[in-house]
Amino acid sequence: MYVCNCNGIREREVRQAIDEGASRPADIFRRQQCQPQCAKCVCDMRRMIDEQRETLRYAAE
Ligand code: FES
Repeated sequence: MYVCNCNGIREREVRQAIDEGASRPADIFRRQQCQPQCAKCVCDMRRMIDEQRETLRYAAE
């Protein structure tokens, strides 16, 4: 499934970028060597980053 249709960034690529330390959508675009176009995907990327943080926080408890 695509998270970013403009740049063809898939969900698994976003998750991999987050796992590798991306903490902002800009980090994800940089890792994919592209720029935001319409930016409609930024909210979804932020949500995925927050979910990953929550998962790690629960895992650490
Ligand atoms: S959907 Fe990602 S920049 Fe447009």
